[in-house]
Amino acid sequence: MTSIARSALRAPRLSVAPSIAIARTRLSAVTSHLSGHPNRGFLRTMASLPKTMKGVWIEKTGGTEVLQYKEDIPVPEVKEGQVLVKNEFIGINYIDTYFRSGVYPLPHTPYILGREGAGTVAAVGANVPDDLKLGTRVAYAGQLAYAEYTPVDAKTTVVVPDSIDAKTAAAALLQALTAVTLIREAHPVQKGDWVLVTAAAGGVGLWLCQLLKAVGARTIAAASSAEKRELAKKNGAEVVVDYYEEDREKFTKEVIEITGGEGVAAVFDSVGKATFDSSLATVKRKGSMVSFGNASGPVTGFALGRLGAKNVKLLRPTLFNYAYTRDEFQQYAAEVWKFIEKDGLNVAIHDVYPLKDVVRATEDIESRKTTGKLLLKP
Ligand SMILES: NC(=O)c1ccc[n+]([C@@H]2O[C@H](COP(=O)([O-])OP(=O)(O)OC[C@H]3O[C@@H](n4cnc5c(N)ncnc54)[C@H](OP(=O)(O)O)[C@@H]3O)[C@@H](O)[C@H]2O)c1
Repeated sequence: MTSIARSALRAPRLSVAPSIAIARTRLSAVTSHLSGHPNRGFLRTMASLPKTMKGVWIEKTGGTEVLQYKEDIPVPEVKEGQVLVKNEFIGINYIDTYFRSGVYPLPHTPYILGREGAGTVAAVGANVPDDLKLGTRVAYAGQLAYAEYTPVDAKTTVVVPDSIDAKTAAAALLQALTAVTLIREAHPVQKGDWVLVTAAAGGVGLWLCQLLKAVGARTIAAASSAEKRELAKKNGAEVVVDYYEEDREKFTKEVIEITGGEGVAAVFDSVGKATFDSSLATVKRKGSMVSFGNASGPVTGFALGRLGAKNVKLLRPTLFNYAYTRDEFQQYAAEVWKFIEKDGLNVAIHDVYPLKDVVRATEDIESRKTTGKLLLKP
């Protein structure tokens, strides 16, 4: 912890209950980049901002037992270029489980999980664009979202249109942005393309089914149950398939047959390890294999020479490198709002869980029984 951060933590706010003081000290790693704001003079804050908040953090990686719900976490301060959002709804994303379990390394401990939310701007740091004023309704993709208040970069925070409520915004933003960037940039989908989507009834999956239909592509949706496949169909998939987990060759054969023997122009595969080989085998000559998730585990040890068999393009993209600049983020977010407002795309919400029920929510998404989006309510 830097001396600036230490003094910020010792500031008047520390004349509070010992448990809170301890929590603050332990939070130093979480908030060291937030405390000791260098441009305090420019900070604008809601008068009603409390000193502590509810949130969920982890001190080590592991199963759901490492998730700790707390009620005495210091409300973070914002630094230059950031706003503090009072979360109304927090989005659960599968990536949260990768940080918790250790598939992705933790930036520091303790660490507050969560990558997105929607609510109102409660404090504004220096050099923040004019559209992000105190009280503005916003949605964001960032970090530290499993909490009442989250400091987020203005770069990845957008104003929510009046016609879209906070629940819908939190449910849509990150997964819909992912789907939009995949079909626009990872493999620019053309009208009439056959496209294979795995985990098609999940959060990102249902977005992909709807967007692919909207742009005139023909979707083959794979999911693990008849109920999920039915939902994918209702959301725009033309054909649905089982993974045939005991016979992956059957899966590949069936997908290729659906396309008249040619194979698909692109695969959007988020299951990872378990489906990578059978999905890759369905791609046609010069098509794209887009592997964008690890729900069953990461894909490792791939021999590049395999691509030469059909000159397949292999990508492992992340949303944040497509929606990287503020302009890119705003542009793609505007597209998402338009799909919801004008094209009437459905924002499927599985359930809203109280923040304190984070373990139940996490177990649910990992159980493969959910469809659509899971939200937390602080
Ligand atoms: N690259 C990026 O920038 C980016 C951004 C957002 C999301 N993603 C990825 O997209 C995927 C979907 O994310 P999401 O938040 O929308 O989650 P989700 O799809 O709602 O939930 C995960 C789904 O993965 C499938 N799955 C297959 N094998 C699984 C296993 N062994 N354990 C658990 N689930 C398994 C399940 O569907 P079935 O039972 O039908 O197989 C499950 O419902 C994740 O892999 C995530 O990491 C990537």
